[in-house]
Amino acid sequence: MLKLENIWLEVGNGNGENKDILKGINLEFQKGKIYAITGPNGGGKTSIAKVIMGIYHQSEGNIVLEGEDISDLSVTERARKGIAYAFQQPPRFKGLTVSDLMNIALPGLDNLQLRTYLRDVGLCPEDYMDRPLGAGLSGGEIKRIEIAQLLAKNSAISIFDEPEAGVDLWTIQKLIGIIIERYKNNPDKTAVIITHNENVLPICDEIIVIDEGHLKERGTTDEIWHLIKDDIQCKNRELCRGEMINEF
Ligand SMILES: Nc1ncnc2c1ncn2[C@@H]1O[C@H](COP(=O)(O)OP(=O)(O)OP(=O)(O)O)[C@@H](O)[C@H]1O
Ligand SMILES: [Mg+2]
Repeated sequence: MLKLENIWLEVGNGNGENKDILKGINLEFQKGKIYAITGPNGGGKTSIAKVIMGIYHQSEGNIVLEGEDISDLSVTERARKGIAYAFQQPPRFKGLTVSDLMNIALPGLDNLQLRTYLRDVGLCPEDYMDRPLGAGLSGGEIKRIEIAQLLAKNSAISIFDEPEAGVDLWTIQKLIGIIIERYKNNPDKTAVIITHNENVLPICDEIIVIDEGHLKERGTTDEIWHLIKDDIQCKNRELCRGEMINEF
């Protein structure tokens, strides 16, 4: 089990001042479950993923994996312990090809596996294996390669950060099928999917809503869905007294 215990995260706001972007987050992620993290833009979802992965370091609180406090471990050490993260906005590694990157994710990857992972995210291996990861690939292609890399790592805890962002509907439907096949009721694995996609939420065992650095709600899709819908409508009404809805 992965536990976040009272996680606070403070960052500079660019004006020489600091602000808290995570404010006392307590969460547990169990094996055999698929979790969705959702909530408004800027709420702190990606920051939670980065704190788990060790990219950001919390100002207070602990990250505990299978009873061990991993708060002081590096990204590489956490990766070795079975945590993997696919970025919301993946970096472009100049000088590497798609197959180079996949081989870094899974050293010793054979040609057949490489082809399978690329097909899983809707990329034709013949077209993409030798493509450089520079500016020549579209945002959606880079995103799909990032997801293929996460699938290839086959880690105990896989964190997908908005896998749907910039990815076509066909690929996201395929990916949903792969996530169900791989993670649903799999006693060895945990999937955490940061998402705004209403097709992804129903496949998850639990939905976690993060808003303004706080854990706002958690529960099953049935328990949480109406809260999300009501809240969106309510915020719109407050902002524009109903006028904005008519404008759209
Ligand atoms: N390194 C940083 N420095 C300064 N501010 C940051 C940093 N990282 C995140 N933030 C701020 O923290 C808040 C939470 O950001 P985060 O990326 O975690 O949100 P999010 O919930 O993932 O949003 P989205 O749905 O848009 O992806 C935002 O206001 C963001 O601007
Ligand atoms: Mg984000």
